[in-house]
Amino acid sequence: MKKKLIAGNWKMNGSLAANELLIKGLLAGVGQPVCNVAVCVPSVYLAQCHALLEGSVIELGVQDISSHESGAFTGEIAPAMLKEFGVHYAIVGHSERRQYHGETDEVVAAKAQRALSSGITPIVCVGETLAEREAGKTEEVVKRQLAAVIHANGHCISEIVVAYEPVWAIGTGLSATAEQAQQVHAVLRAQLKAATPSADRIKLLYGGSMNAANAASLLGQPDIDGGLIGGAALKAQDFLTIIAAAV
Ligand code: 13P
Repeated sequence: MKKKLIAGNWKMNGSLAANELLIKGLLAGVGQPVCNVAVCVPSVYLAQCHALLEGSVIELGVQDISSHESGAFTGEIAPAMLKEFGVHYAIVGHSERRQYHGETDEVVAAKAQRALSSGITPIVCVGETLAEREAGKTEEVVKRQLAAVIHANGHCISEIVVAYEPVWAIGTGLSATAEQAQQVHAVLRAQLKAATPSADRIKLLYGGSMNAANAASLLGQPDIDGGLIGGAALKAQDFLTIIAAAV
C-alpha cells in the first residue's frame, strides 16, 4: 500500500533554540512511523536541521525553490545547494507565495520542473480562495493550477506530490470537512489519471487547519494520502498525533 506523507510547513517561524526543542521533541516520540514524515524549514536553518535530523526517519524539506540552476539570481537558493543539506522536498506554489510574491501557474510549473530535475520532490500546492469557492469555481481553479504543472512536466508528473490547500482553510482554524476535501482530491486524482498511468502512486496531501483532532477523519478519505501542516507542525505533540493518525 502507498505510504502516506505527513509534512510540516514551518513557514516563517522558528529560532535556533526553538528548532532544536521541536526537533528533539519529534525525534523522542516519532518511533518507526508507518508513514513518511518531513519538515519544511526556513532555508537559513537547513544546516542546523540537517545535523539534528541526520540518520532519522524525518526527512528535510524547504518552502520554496528557485526555477533557475545557478547564477545571477540575487536572493535565490540553487537546488544543488539544497541537495548539499539533504533536502528531499520543496513546497512549490504555496498560496502565500502565489499571493504575496506574485507566483503564477507558469512560475510554479517551472519550479516544480527544476526541483524534479534536481532530484528534489516538489510538493505542488493548489487551492481556491473563499470567493472562488463561493462562485462555484473550485474545480476550475485547482484544475488550472495543476494543469500548468502537468503540462510542463510530462511523464515526470508521477514523481510529484500534490497538496490541496483551500486558501480559506489556511491558518483560520476552519478546516475543509473530510467530504469537501475528498471531493476535490477525487477531481485532482482524475486529472492526474488522464495524464499518467501511474497516477495512483502520486500522493495527494490535504492542508489547511489540519490538527490533532481532525487528522484521522481527513486522512481516512480514499484519495487523501497525507497532510501538509502549518500551525500544528510547530507543536511536537500535535504533529506526533497527526503522524500517528496517518495509517
Ligand atoms: P495551517 O495548518 O496553519 O492552516 O497551514 C496550512 C498550510 O498552509 C500548510 O502549508
